[in-house]
Amino acid sequence: MRNRIIIPLIIALLAVPAGFAYVHWSKGGTCTGLYSRYWSPDPVQGYWDPDNFYQSPDSVQGIFAGKLCVQCHEGITPGIVNDWRASRHAQSEETVYCNDCHGNNHQQLHLPTPDVCGNCHTKQHDEFRDETRYGFPSHVLAMERAVDAKHFVDKPKAEVQSCVQCHSVATKCDSCHSRHRFDATEARRPEACITCHSGPPHPDDETYFASAIERDYFEMWYFDNLGAYKSAAHGNPAGVEAGHRKMAASLDRIETQANELRELSQAKKKAGFTTKPAGDLWMKGAYTDIGCHSCHGENHKESAIKARKDQICTGCHEGSVSHSYSTSKHGIITRLEEARQDWRQPLQRGNYRTPGCSYCHLHNGDHGDTMAPGRGPEVRHWICAGCHSPRYIREQFANGKRQLEIAGLKLTEGESLIASAVDDQADAWSKLRQSLNHHRHNVLLGIGHQSPDYQWWHGQPALDGDLIRIRDRILQSSRRKSLADNPEE
Ligand code: HEC
Ligand code: HEC
Ligand code: HEC
Ligand code: HEC
Ligand code: HEC
Ligand code: HEC
Ligand code: HEC
Ligand code: HEC
Ligand code: HEC
Ligand code: HEC
Repeated sequence: MRNRIIIPLIIALLAVPAGFAYVHWSKGGTCTGLYSRYWSPDPVQGYWDPDNFYQSPDSVQGIFAGKLCVQCHEGITPGIVNDWRASRHAQSEETVYCNDCHGNNHQQLHLPTPDVCGNCHTKQHDEFRDETRYGFPSHVLAMERAVDAKHFVDKPKAEVQSCVQCHSVATKCDSCHSRHRFDATEARRPEACITCHSGPPHPDDETYFASAIERDYFEMWYFDNLGAYKSAAHGNPAGVEAGHRKMAASLDRIETQANELRELSQAKKKAGFTTKPAGDLWMKGAYTDIGCHSCHGENHKESAIKARKDQICTGCHEGSVSHSYSTSKHGIITRLEEARQDWRQPLQRGNYRTPGCSYCHLHNGDHGDTMAPGRGPEVRHWICAGCHSPRYIREQFANGKRQLEIAGLKLTEGESLIASAVDDQADAWSKLRQSLNHHRHNVLLGIGHQSPDYQWWHGQPALDGDLIRIRDRILQSSRRKSLADNPEE
């Protein structure tokens, strides 16, 4: 009888410390999280989780005072300097210079973690940290949560960089008030949340920033939940709980509305209505009358200005092309800045805060798609590096290239599985093939348009899903075939 109690007790006494020791051991590898011994980071991860992975470049030598940082970077990354100039940091009585966040020594730069911001913004930092007490889900623990997930370690590193891009809300403070403007009014807008919380109804149809109705609902969702919104921003448990209750209610309403919208848009398609023109590929140099006025309008008045704005492109390029961009930081900020932006400016370095469609694809009035891979990587690197450090861009594209290679492998695998299929249901196979191509294209758009949502949800796992469906179908049809070959008497 005594043994019945004592033995389990001893086992428990041994197991608990052993468990702790195991967790401690597994977190003690070269990387982070529960599986720290089983993975290594992709270089770009330094930008998402600087405390653990960032390493300074050593391409520039010297120790500089703040004014010198600004002077040199005016030429190197004019976008950053403009944003900083327009920020409260530059305008406050005691100027907050580049080196206050990045350090003076250019060979030992650091990227500011929440602790660095906390040196001056104790209140916000403490509120942010305070969320730890309430466990998951929370912004402050988001990075931990992502790297502790089993599927984070199981997959090739390049494929899951999008996880840490969203979950970096824990490891840097520019998720809602973006660098280098650090504008509190930007953070108050609902759009500030959607790169990661991609639109409540997830409008996967072809609208750019949603129709008027969806926008209404989005705002309703947002204002309904101002409590949760602010609480999430800077940690207030009671507010979060109340907000969550309201959020659940308004999400239900939105869901209904979204379904109706989806049906409407399908009906529209069925009726054969489409805004896409018949052809005339201006890219290929086949300019016609239609080609020019499609972007420049019917008359010369403000004809360049019209062509610079996103709406001109999204009128034709709907669906994933526009949606991937509209859920990116670029798409969001471009929209928020629209009224402030001087659209008379040509699409050149230093003239825009974030790039719109034309800024990237028709940079400097170049009508031959400046983002096309055929133009060579230098062209797009130069364009992006008007606002980001060249190294940042190199790492983003290097990671993107690896991600695309993975997506390419999945596509090839799917194609060859389909080719080996035995049944003759061409329609079904062609649908699966289309789906593969569509999802691979989503990965391309996720990378090209910097949308973690498209790299991940609409991209890589969607491709994995395609492969599962293909294999499943092959199994089914081979079963059916063997049943047909050996019919039961
Ligand atoms: C003489 C010119 C010059 C000065 C002065 C200068 N920088 Fe830079 N900085 C550069 C160049 C060039 C790069 C791009 C390096 C690369 O891509 O390898 C860069 C890159 C950076 C980066 C990005 C690093 C990365 O990993 O992407 C940061 C941050 C930065 N500088 C901050 C500063 C700060 C802070 C100062 C002042 C203490 C400063 N810079 C002064 C030229 C300069
Ligand atoms: C060296 C001190 C210092 C550091 C470091 C610092 N800030 Fe500030 N910050 C200030 C000052 C000073 C102001 C202006 C306050 C004022 O004018 O009332 C300010 C203002 C702000 C504002 C308000 C802007 C507005 O529109 O009202 C935000 C947001 C902000 N900082 C975010 C950050 C973030 C995020 C970081 C870290 C990446 C950071 N700050 C790092 C000193 C600092
Ligand atoms: C587009 C942005 C985005 C991407 C990409 C993303 N996440 Fe998340 N993740 C979120 C958001 C937002 C939530 C909170 C969901 C909610 O509460 O509605 C979340 C929730 C989670 C949770 C549950 C958190 C909790 O505490 O309950 C885990 C675990 C997680 N993500 C891991 C990952 C991993 C691993 C990846 C990559 C394979 C990934 N996420 C990719 C944005 C993202
Ligand atoms: C850079 C990406 C990112 C941005 C921007 C972002 N979030 Fe989150 N948010 C996340 C992730 C990731 C999680 C899941 C955290 C986890 O793993 O536990 C999350 C979780 C949450 C939660 C659940 C946490 C809780 O305390 O219950 C709320 C609410 C939330 N976010 C609200 C917001 C609001 C409001 C905004 C805009 C002001 C916003 N988020 C902006 C990434 C983001
Ligand atoms: C989830 C989004 C989100 C994140 C992450 C976030 N903030 Fe904020 N921040 C906001 C919002 C929203 C406001 C405006 C709050 C208001 O109006 O009451 C704000 C305002 C501020 C202000 C200006 C306050 C004022 O009264 O002018 C500072 C400073 C600031 N945040 C610093 C930080 C720091 C430091 C971090 C990182 C520890 C951080 N924020 C992370 C959303 C965020
Ligand atoms: C006209 C200026 C400008 C150009 C050109 C530009 N960007 Fe950006 N980009 C920004 C700004 C501003 C942000 C918001 C930064 C933040 O979130 O704090 C941003 C955000 C990003 C982000 C998300 C950063 C984060 O921390 O969430 C990535 C990735 C990115 N840009 C990559 C690129 C690439 C790749 C290109 C070229 C194809 C490019 N950018 C061109 C201004 C620009
Ligand atoms: C009148 C309709 C129309 C307008 C306006 C328009 N496009 Fe297009 N675009 C097309 C068509 C049609 C194609 C051919 C490829 C296709 O069918 O998707 C194309 C091709 C492209 C491609 C190459 C895609 C590929 O598959 O190689 C890019 C990039 C592009 N457009 C960007 C833009 C940008 C940026 C704008 C706004 C300045 C714009 N387009 C405005 C109709 C339009
Ligand atoms: C930050 C720069 C940037 C912005 C802003 C941007 N794009 Fe792109 N876009 C790219 C890059 C990079 C690619 C990938 C090109 C590649 O590698 O084939 C791409 C891909 C595309 C493609 C597909 C090309 C293909 O080969 O299938 C189309 C179409 C397109 N963009 C149109 C748009 C439209 C319309 C907008 C605005 C809603 C827009 N882009 C905004 C950089 C940008
Ligand atoms: C896909 C959209 C698109 C099409 C089609 C297009 N353009 Fe443009 N065009 C632009 C954009 C965007 C600019 C602004 C470039 C800048 O600001 O650097 C521009 C600028 C110009 C300019 C310089 C205007 C100025 O005020 O600086 C001329 C001239 C021009 N385009 C002529 C044409 C002609 C002629 C055609 C037909 C053969 C044509 N464009 C077709 C988008 C387009
Ligand atoms: C208030 C703090 C703060 C100040 C001041 C500041 N930065 Fe930053 N900077 C950031 C944050 C936050 C990031 C994003 C870090 C990350 O991605 O992990 C960043 C990233 C960068 C990057 C790399 C990312 C990219 O988009 O290229 C460069 C380059 C850079 N800053 C240059 C500068 C220069 C030059 C100045 C002065 C004009 C400056 N910074 C002032 C906070 C600051």
